[in-house]
Amino acid sequence: MNNTNKSIIINDNLIKLKVSKLRNVNTGFADFNKNVVEISSLLMAHISPEIQLKETTIDTPNEKTTGYELKYPIILVPILRAGLGMLEGARSIIPNSRVGFIGVQRNEETLNPEYYYDKLPKVDKNATVIILDPMLATGGSAVFAIEKVKELGYKNISICAIISAQVGIDRIFKDHPEVTVYSAVLDRQLNDIGYICPGLGDAGDRIFGTDNYDN
Ligand code: PRP
Ligand code: URA
Repeated sequence: MNNTNKSIIINDNLIKLKVSKLRNVNTGFADFNKNVVEISSLLMAHISPEIQLKETTIDTPNEKTTGYELKYPIILVPILRAGLGMLEGARSIIPNSRVGFIGVQRNEETLNPEYYYDKLPKVDKNATVIILDPMLATGGSAVFAIEKVKELGYKNISICAIISAQVGIDRIFKDHPEVTVYSAVLDRQLNDIGYICPGLGDAGDRIFGTDNYDN
C-alpha cells in the first residue's frame, strides 16, 4: 500500500453540522468553543487507525478473554493557541494521552510562522504523535510543528485539522510525504490575506473571545 501523501477528508454528518456552527459569524465564542471541543472528540474516532494496539488477557466475570491496550504512547500536540481548543475533546476520548505544546504565530504580513514556545514529552520514539490545529491554511505552522516533533526522533506523525486548504496539505506533503493529514472539511482557497475561504475567520480569536464581535 502507498503510505505517502495520505489526505483524509472526513465525511461525517454530525461533524458537518457542527462545522456549520463554526462557520456562522453569529456563533459566539462560548458556543464556538463548545463545538470545537465536540468536533475534536468526534475526529479522534476517525484517526483511530493511527493507534497501534497490543493484545492482553482480561478476566471478565465469566472467563478470560483477549483485550487490547496501547502498544506505544500517544502524544497530542496542540499548536498554540487555537490548537488548545481541540485538546480537551481529543484528550477526553484517547486514553492515557500525553500532551506536548508548540507555540507558533503567523506573521500577518509574511504569513510565515514565528516560534515562541515548545515543550514536548520525550518517550518511546515509536509513539503516535497527533498534531492538533483547527486551521491548515498555508501549512507553514503545521510544517514547523512537524519539524519540531521530528527533531526529537518521532516518526509516526499525523495532523488533525478542522478546516484545511489544499495548498496547505500540498505544502506538508512536499517536505513530509509520510505524514497523514486528517481534515474535517476541505475548503476552496485562501484569500489575499491568507485566510481560508469560506472558512470561519480567525480560529484562535473565536475560541478565546479575543475577536471584535459582540457575542
Ligand atoms: C492560526 C491557526 C494555525 C495557523 C494556520 O494560528 O490556528 O496555527 O494560523 O495558518 P498557516 O497554515 O498559514 O500557518 P495563528 O497564527 O493565527 O495564531 P493563534 O492560534 O494564536 O491565533
Ligand atoms: N488561521 C485562522 O485562524 N484562520 C484562517 O482562515 C487561516 C489561518
